[in-house]
Amino acid sequence: MRRKPVVLITGASGEMGHGLVSQLAKDHDVLALDIKEVEPELSKMCLATMAGDILDKHMLERLVSEYEIHAIFHLAALLSTRSEFTPETAHEVNVTGTMNLLKLAVEQARWHGKPVKFLFPSSIAAYGTSSLEAKIKAGRINEDQCLEPISMYGCNKLYCEHLGRYYSRHYRQLAAESHVSGVDFRSIRFPGLISAFTVPSGGTSDYGPEMLHAAAQEAPYDCFVREDTRIPFMAMPDAIDALLGLMAAPVEKLTTQVYNIAAFNPSAGEFAELVKKAYPQAKIQFVPDARRQAIVDSWPSDVDDSRARRDWAFKNEYDLKRAFEEYLLPNIKKRYGA
Ligand code: SER
Repeated sequence: MRRKPVVLITGASGEMGHGLVSQLAKDHDVLALDIKEVEPELSKMCLATMAGDILDKHMLERLVSEYEIHAIFHLAALLSTRSEFTPETAHEVNVTGTMNLLKLAVEQARWHGKPVKFLFPSSIAAYGTSSLEAKIKAGRINEDQCLEPISMYGCNKLYCEHLGRYYSRHYRQLAAESHVSGVDFRSIRFPGLISAFTVPSGGTSDYGPEMLHAAAQEAPYDCFVREDTRIPFMAMPDAIDALLGLMAAPVEKLTTQVYNIAAFNPSAGEFAELVKKAYPQAKIQFVPDARRQAIVDSWPSDVDDSRARRDWAFKNEYDLKRAFEEYLLPNIKKRYGA
């Protein structure tokens, strides 16, 4: 009996999952996994869906008994704000969950004899500066700078990048016979993501999307960071295209396993101005929460993505103006009514 070849997406019902499933399902048989039932609209695009916890090893075993996995997009995670409330659980989900999937990737590569591509969304949260002054001084940083994250989520992401590198390049390096793991790990440190279709939950960059979605629903919004707060953001379609672009890149072109990508980096105040231009009635106040502010103040204001542009021709379609005018506003107006 032959198992069905698939691409596995974990966290398929999450913010990124939504966009990724619909793109990936165009040319691949997708197996969508999420902790909760995948909604019918997404599930009809997939070969199969499963509701289950990435910490449940029996569930993962059942999954590989039926499916042959050729690539994994491991999106399931607890985001940065939520992780601070339950750091130990965050570590379980974000680190042990990733280990479980790396192990599964090794086994799958052994079975079918081909490398398993492992796409891992890391984050600007992997960076950390010690103070706002240090952040301002650091400016636009590359992948090797300021790697002292202050959040549990950031620590988890940074460590999982290292695990991916280990599994790809150094797996069981002392074994008598060569132990090529067969895992082809590729990762992107994403900026804060803004989708027209979903509102994130539990993140610390959420003030951007929340502000916009609140205005569209005529709800007042208290922004939890100061007006001058600046971090990189990106429109969701560019994030999805980047994951697919990195997946498709020939391995010999990749000079690293972890890439920055960038698009725009307005301050929270500039973002609010754009929201108000589109929704003049929007009621946005700045009511900083000192502790969430400190997390955002440790994230870079800008990142250098020249390695991604050089190695796999990353290019964002949307700058801030286009993101608002051509992606966010038309779709959000359709969703909530103009
Ligand atoms: N958007 C994420 C968060 O705020 C950062 O990657 O947790």
